[in-house]
Amino acid sequence: MTSGKNLQELFHDTLKDIYFAEKKILSALPKMAKAAQSKHLKAAFQKHETETEEHVARLEKVFAEIDETPRGKTCDAIMGIIAEGQEIMKEFKGAPALDAGLVAAAQAVEHYEIARYGTLKTWAAELGLNQAVRLLETTLSEEKKTDETLTKLAEGEVNQHAQAA
Ligand SMILES: [Fe+2]
Repeated sequence: MTSGKNLQELFHDTLKDIYFAEKKILSALPKMAKAAQSKHLKAAFQKHETETEEHVARLEKVFAEIDETPRGKTCDAIMGIIAEGQEIMKEFKGAPALDAGLVAAAQAVEHYEIARYGTLKTWAAELGLNQAVRLLETTLSEEKKTDETLTKLAEGEVNQHAQAA
């Protein structure tokens, strides 16, 4: 019987969690791009928005591999992280440190995703879901690259700009 709370069920549950999260991120990124003062940061958010559309599409393929309909499950963690980002946008609107705050919020999102994709990839391997392993790995490496890009932007210009009086 497959009704037990086994790894397969946990995988499906976590897949729903990240599917929900990716969709939330997809609606948050244009707002972050709009808010960003640095044109490089704006471009990074826009690029990641395009990638995020791919992330959603890849997750739908993973759902297909386990014969499930793509469905999200409310992820309180990502709701909280995004709410914090919105708070920064409001409180630092027009301020020198706005972009530094946006980078910090975006990196919290990326780290959440990196944690989720790392786990899912490992579970997919354990479950013998070979296509899922490849799909999750591709997204995982894009999230890591985005995180590195954000670090470079912070160190290269954003944090310095944030120190302006
Ligand atoms: Fe993503």
